[in-house]
Amino acid sequence: MRTTTLGARGPRVGAIGLGCMGMTHAYDLDTPRDDNQSIAVIHQALDAGMNLIDTADVYGPHTNEDLVGRALADRRDRAVLATKVGLVWDDPDAAATGTSSPGIGRNGRPEYVRASIDDSLRRLQTDRVDLYQLHRIDPEVPIEETWGAMAEVVAAGKARLIGLSEVTVAEIERAAAIHPVATVQSELSLWTRDALDEVVPYCAQHGIAFLPFSPLGRGFLAGRFASSDELSQSDFRRGLPRFQQEALRENLAIVERIRTVAERVDATPAQVALAWVLAQGEHVVPIPGTKTPRYLAENAAAADVRLSAQDLAELDGLPAPVGGRY
Ligand SMILES: NC(=O)c1ccc[n+]([C@@H]2O[C@H](COP(=O)([O-])OP(=O)(O)OC[C@H]3O[C@@H](n4cnc5c(N)ncnc54)[C@H](OP(=O)(O)O)[C@@H]3O)[C@@H](O)[C@H]2O)c1
Repeated sequence: MRTTTLGARGPRVGAIGLGCMGMTHAYDLDTPRDDNQSIAVIHQALDAGMNLIDTADVYGPHTNEDLVGRALADRRDRAVLATKVGLVWDDPDAAATGTSSPGIGRNGRPEYVRASIDDSLRRLQTDRVDLYQLHRIDPEVPIEETWGAMAEVVAAGKARLIGLSEVTVAEIERAAAIHPVATVQSELSLWTRDALDEVVPYCAQHGIAFLPFSPLGRGFLAGRFASSDELSQSDFRRGLPRFQQEALRENLAIVERIRTVAERVDATPAQVALAWVLAQGEHVVPIPGTKTPRYLAENAAAADVRLSAQDLAELDGLPAPVGGRY
């Protein structure tokens, strides 16, 4: 797979990475987890050159980092390992057992960041992560304080680089005044393009890698769902506006138009969705999520899908989705 750098001075990463969230969190929670298959998918990603592996302490909580740690235990040096801090479950026990739907809050206090990195390193079975990301800015804590603690994590040798998630240009600038921002992770896909207005170009100009999350629209843009009934009761997507039955049905028109382009370029809708994201800049490294070997192979091959100017124009012209992101 072709490679790019993670930010101006960062390590080399495959043009497409792997998001691990859905392996233990948010999606398909009523289906028994198959950790062995998920670990095999992480290994498959490394073999395909998709070496940026993304997780977070809040996924599970903690189960995702545990799983990624087990997957990388005997091949840590082959991965560019990214995790996150700053989101916390209101009730972790209920979250883990699925007995209720607790809310998720934010914690950007410096002492919390300092303690959390050690917990993440233990679960990930490593002494340093390549990228430590602030999952969300805590409105109760000035970004300078949280980011200062993230910079201390770098100074202590526990993280190589630090990044932000779901931020504005003004917030990136406030953080960058304290310590370089290596990456910004935000939602970007054919049905979520807000970041293209300011954040993606700003990152290109300032040597910051942009990591699109949910680049497949949480599976929808890959043509996975024709009805919200296909989602299990506890699936996180069931609560999202775009996945409500009426909205979802209307949004199928978007998938149909992606499918038309896909047929023309002899690719799948998922590959077209990823190729469009890749076309947004050399510094853009999408992290599609999957726990399915077949999808992993398909997503890896998306790096070789070429879209013509006409294809891109057609995709740029897709209608806006019905329903907000969250
Ligand atoms: N920073 C943040 O706030 C934030 C928020 C959300 C996500 N993320 C990160 O971004 C990563 C990716 O986002 P995401 O998982 O929400 O959404 P996504 O990558 O847009 O979509 C994942 C869904 O698409 C399915 N899928 C993957 N490849 C496919 C293919 N080729 N054909 C058909 N279906 C396919 C997956 O199925 P299977 O799982 O069944 O294989 C899964 O249901 C996450 O894993 C996480 O690391 C970050």
